[in-house]
Amino acid sequence: MAQSVFFATSEVYPFSKSGGLGDVMGALPLAMQQSGQPAAVISPFYGRVSTGNYQIRLTISDLPVGYPWAPITADIYEADYHGVPLYFIARGEYFDRRFYYNDHKGDYFDNAERFIFFCRAAIALMERLGEPPAVVHAHDWQTALLPAYIHFLRPFHPFWRQTATMFTIHNLAFQGRFSSRLFDSCGLPPEAWNMDGVEYYGDFNLLKSGIAYADAVTTVSPSYAREILTEKFGCGLDGMLRKRELHLYGVLNGADYVVWDPASDPFLPANYSLDNIAGKRICKKKLIEELGLLPRLEKRPLLGFIGRLRGQKGIDLLNSIIPELMEMDVGVVVLGEGNPVHEARILELMENYQGRVAAVVGYTEDLAHRMQAGSDIFLMPSRYEPCGLTQMYALRYGTPPVATAVGGLRDTIEPWPGEQATGFIFGDSSPKDFLQAIKEAVFLWTESPEAWRAMTYRAMRQAFTWTKSCAEYSEIYRKIRLRL
Ligand code: ADP
Ligand code: GLC
Repeated sequence: MAQSVFFATSEVYPFSKSGGLGDVMGALPLAMQQSGQPAAVISPFYGRVSTGNYQIRLTISDLPVGYPWAPITADIYEADYHGVPLYFIARGEYFDRRFYYNDHKGDYFDNAERFIFFCRAAIALMERLGEPPAVVHAHDWQTALLPAYIHFLRPFHPFWRQTATMFTIHNLAFQGRFSSRLFDSCGLPPEAWNMDGVEYYGDFNLLKSGIAYADAVTTVSPSYAREILTEKFGCGLDGMLRKRELHLYGVLNGADYVVWDPASDPFLPANYSLDNIAGKRICKKKLIEELGLLPRLEKRPLLGFIGRLRGQKGIDLLNSIIPELMEMDVGVVVLGEGNPVHEARILELMENYQGRVAAVVGYTEDLAHRMQAGSDIFLMPSRYEPCGLTQMYALRYGTPPVATAVGGLRDTIEPWPGEQATGFIFGDSSPKDFLQAIKEAVFLWTESPEAWRAMTYRAMRQAFTWTKSCAEYSEIYRKIRLRL
């Protein structure tokens, strides 16, 4: 039996999810295992972890972790996720909380301690399991210390000698930047504290440790992999990334079409597919009812937005053009939560344009599915987008996106006009360009129903499979293992 790839992640759907990372980690390890590469996942055991139908059981008690004080331990719970072992690291005071990383007052004050503890516990767990992993594949800042730990363990600890490390950046803007004093007891040697290591303008930067010490660094689309080498998209780490350019890859995410398929989606009032699209109309009608919009909007384009209400997603651009959209007599539906300023603004717009704008501020998994199906046009005016999964889902649900020409959006949407068009792309994150692109989409929807239908069908035929992404990851795993 081949050795396993161990995925370390702070979210794994359906057990935990706050965004795309959860979706990816719910699908990639399984796809990897199905491709013949044994996989395992290590994730925190949050208080709100949804146990679903998976029997989660305690398998290791009191595993010594030794951080942040000597006798501290973790309990390990285990679930069998369709054949992939999932290890949950439990320590009540760190993870048994209502939210993952922050509450309404801001980031949890002890996030560094929580995730240093998590990474140290993951190392202790893998050692306890007894067989060195083939690859440890860490994701985002929460697990970025793992490549650094393994890098420094390798010369002294035979267990780690044959384990390669990969670090995937899902969002460069979230870096896990903390005070330098937290470095002291984290377990890395003093030589890691330098500008080519974890030090960043005098602070301890966890994401940087992944970039500095992983055998390969990847991000979630080819375009974003190029963009982050520039000052504009580099979030202050472009210099560091350029140093690692030879070992930096862009691997496009897949979409999980088991969870996101209008033909079988259990959250929809009616299912539909390329063979029988009629159900999409019902989904639109029911969505209009559910959100209390005017029934006459059934005959007008319905524009949907789903995402974190943050600058990244361009919700402010959308908010700023809603008055103009109203003149075009379209409906707008928004689902998201995030910055209180954007939340308040969209709720105010809903009040101003009753029956034509509906906003649900909160996180509602099932409504996200119904909005993908019930909207005609999907809005994604992101300022940057490492990959973006919602536009992939929108394509599959026959809801052509209007999106900015950045990152994964460029890599997944064929722009109109063009024979292969699946959506609308605009160049600059300006309200004017966004509005213009929406106008084109609305014009096509109203004036050329045939062309619109053809675009919808093309969109639904797009397949961003995990099989393809797994093949690319496997090839990189192979290369980095050869270099060990
Ligand atoms: P990101 O990870 O940057 O937030 P992605 O497009 O990769 O963006 O993934 C977002 C995921 O989170 C999708 O599954 C989307 O449906 C989901 N999502 C985002 N906001 C909400 C919300 N308010 N309610 C339900 N699901 C949401
Ligand atoms: C991040 C990115 C998003 C990406 C997701 C999964 O949250 O913002 O673009 O799709 O991770 O990789």
